[in-house]
Amino acid sequence: MTLTDETKKILIEKALEARKKAYAPYSEYKVGACILTSNGNYFTGCNVENASYGATNCAERTATFKAVSEGDTKFYAIAIVGGRDIDGIVSYAYPCGVCRQVLREFSDPKEMIILVGKSTDDYKEYTLEELLPDSFGPDF
Ligand code: THU
Repeated sequence: MTLTDETKKILIEKALEARKKAYAPYSEYKVGACILTSNGNYFTGCNVENASYGATNCAERTATFKAVSEGDTKFYAIAIVGGRDIDGIVSYAYPCGVCRQVLREFSDPKEMIILVGKSTDDYKEYTLEELLPDSFGPDF
């Protein structure tokens, strides 16, 4: 699937909007994500922290679980944005290892696009294969 520039912008805009809902009182590091599925649907998510830190859920997994629980299990792309409000979004927020593996479950690593953005005009683009090479997935 080829992602148009317009679709990339929509994904990043929705991720930025989702980031506003981040519940991150402990780290103050707010993350937003937006997934595009093969059905043409967009699912957003934010990080949801917990007083018991280990119970925290990342934005990418929030979006993943929303998509899967609504019946969409094939992903084409995800946009991720993150940073502390006090800093603004000054650096690219890369997906953690657990989130990369969770995305692997629901996508083709060679096709799945990961946009890591600061704004709709400033983002980096990868395939999941680039960020999670030689991965293990459901096809095994
Ligand atoms: N976080 C994400 O939401 N996604 C990632 O891929 C990395 C980290 C969140 C978890 C925690 O709430 C905060 O960022 C700081 O680790």
